[in-house]
Amino acid sequence: MSGGGRAVIVPSFKSLSIGAWCMLLAASVAATEVATPPAVDYSALPPLGHLWRDTNPYRNLPEALPIGRSAFNQSCARCHGADAATNAAPAPDLRNLDRGCRRIADTALKARCMADNDAYFAKTVRDGKIIIGVVHMPPWGEVLAQELAWAIQAFIEVQARTTPIRPGVGK
Ligand code: HEC
Repeated sequence: MSGGGRAVIVPSFKSLSIGAWCMLLAASVAATEVATPPAVDYSALPPLGHLWRDTNPYRNLPEALPIGRSAFNQSCARCHGADAATNAAPAPDLRNLDRGCRRIADTALKARCMADNDAYFAKTVRDGKIIIGVVHMPPWGEVLAQELAWAIQAFIEVQARTTPIRPGVGK
């Protein structure tokens, strides 16, 4: 019967050590992927409180742009590229996020597309991108005021329209 005992102990020891490795790996990844909040004065923006909006309240608000740019360059640029104006950064070029919506001519349909896009942006920024325990992007929900998240998105959308994404692609 002692053989049966060993048969139970050995696999559980193995899975423990795999678990320990995963924790070590996750800890080392998480240590490098820390969500560092930007130091930006956003008092010029209408305050939004703690309840997250469904859609971006700052789209087309000129005051949001310099605030969004500063916050983006402090917190997002190291992965997504300076000024959200390159497709050569390690993380996705965020100017592509609303590309599909930009092409829709019908106003009502376009508004729905943008609303979906806003929900995806807010959820992704708040929750981060953690895939099978690996932190591709840390969650920002605890450190980034929603005012700054929406200002960042407003800035990215202007960059999408004013900086070339790739020759001949997007507009
Ligand atoms: C540590 C690097 C890093 C930082 C810093 C970072 N991101 Fe990301 N982000 C990523 C990576 C990597 C992905 C792609 C993850 C995936 O899909 O696997 C991503 C994806 C995204 C996406 C989804 C893109 C898509 O095409 O689906 C959004 C939106 C986003 N990031 C916004 C932001 C914002 C806003 C900031 C700053 C507040 C930020 N990120 C900071 C690494 C980062």
